[in-house]
Amino acid sequence: MSDVSRRGFMQAASVAAAAMGAVSAKAGVAVAPAAGKIKVISSSNGAEATRKAYEMIAVGSDPLDAVVAGVAIVEDDPNDTSVGYGGLPNERGIVELDAAVMHGPTHHAGAVASLQNIRHPAQVALQVLRRSDHVLLVGAGALDFARAHGFQEENLLTEHSRKIWLRWKETMSEKDDWLPDPNEKEPGVAAFFEKNTILSSDGSRLRFRRPTGTIHCSGINAAGDISCTTTTSGLAFKIPGRVGDSPIIGAGLYCDNEVGSCGSTGRGEANLQNLCSFAGVELMRQGASPEEAGMEILNRVVKTTETRLRDQDGRPDFGLNFYLIAKDGRHAGVTLWGPEKYSITDENGTRLEECRALFTKPKG
Ligand code: GLY
Repeated sequence: MSDVSRRGFMQAASVAAAAMGAVSAKAGVAVAPAAGKIKVISSSNGAEATRKAYEMIAVGSDPLDAVVAGVAIVEDDPNDTSVGYGGLPNERGIVELDAAVMHGPTHHAGAVASLQNIRHPAQVALQVLRRSDHVLLVGAGALDFARAHGFQEENLLTEHSRKIWLRWKETMSEKDDWLPDPNEKEPGVAAFFEKNTILSSDGSRLRFRRPTGTIHCSGINAAGDISCTTTTSGLAFKIPGRVGDSPIIGAGLYCDNEVGSCGSTGRGEANLQNLCSFAGVELMRQGASPEEAGMEILNRVVKTTETRLRDQDGRPDFGLNFYLIAKDGRHAGVTLWGPEKYSITDENGTRLEECRALFTKPKG
């Protein structure tokens, strides 16, 4: 555990012990702190989110409030170009966000899609759950709803994301009138295109693969109550109005308070076609461990992947990850392409653990 992780964990553990002690004193019964049962898991970009959510759950917050507060850290982070403020925009250069929340104890859900100008879409999704009779609001309606609830509008496109988008637009085709700057020197822009360039499916040429980032976060408290959220700026440079898996209940996330939770990052279309998070929870209901359930949904995605999205060996050439937690606290991250990690905060602190991978990327 890093020093930072250890420090955060020790603070959370002492807060948890104090909180549990207070509950025990009130009830007049000497009960050992049960903070060890609290677990929060997330995608690899969610270490700070899981730490924050753990600390909140430890002092008695509802796991749903806790995970939404946790992912707000990543929604605020301009350096995460897959979520919230600084997320990569659609093909017109406008940031469009998708998010959903699900509350295990009530089985209620809320979601927003294609939301512009609001940096915390998961918080708007939470208001959809709590302050409307609907589950999913999109586009202008979602923005009106957010405004009505006091969310402030702002431009979510950072200079960094704008430059990446402009470079993409200028280099996409030689048949249009947009010309790239031959003196472009910003290292972040070049690094972005380098990182997302892969061999084409026939192995013969390099091609640019657009990232689908996202953060998912699930939390379980000492009583076994589970909630989760997923929030994203979606596929970079998407067609305006494209909605991915993140705000779709059963795809980007799902939880059942009797069973567990599952959420996703990666290529939303593959997940939408298989409703993987719902399937993952149902497989755990039938007795699969989180890892077994995760590998089964990945295998279903492999079976249904169309040829144009397969590499020369017939494997899907996109990324897709799932994060599963069972009511008894067992958890797993699974990925189509390893190595890949997921974040966890529990009684042992905050750390990254290895996802079980269906396929492994060649080194280099
Ligand atoms: N999983 C994020 C997206 O495809 O939008």
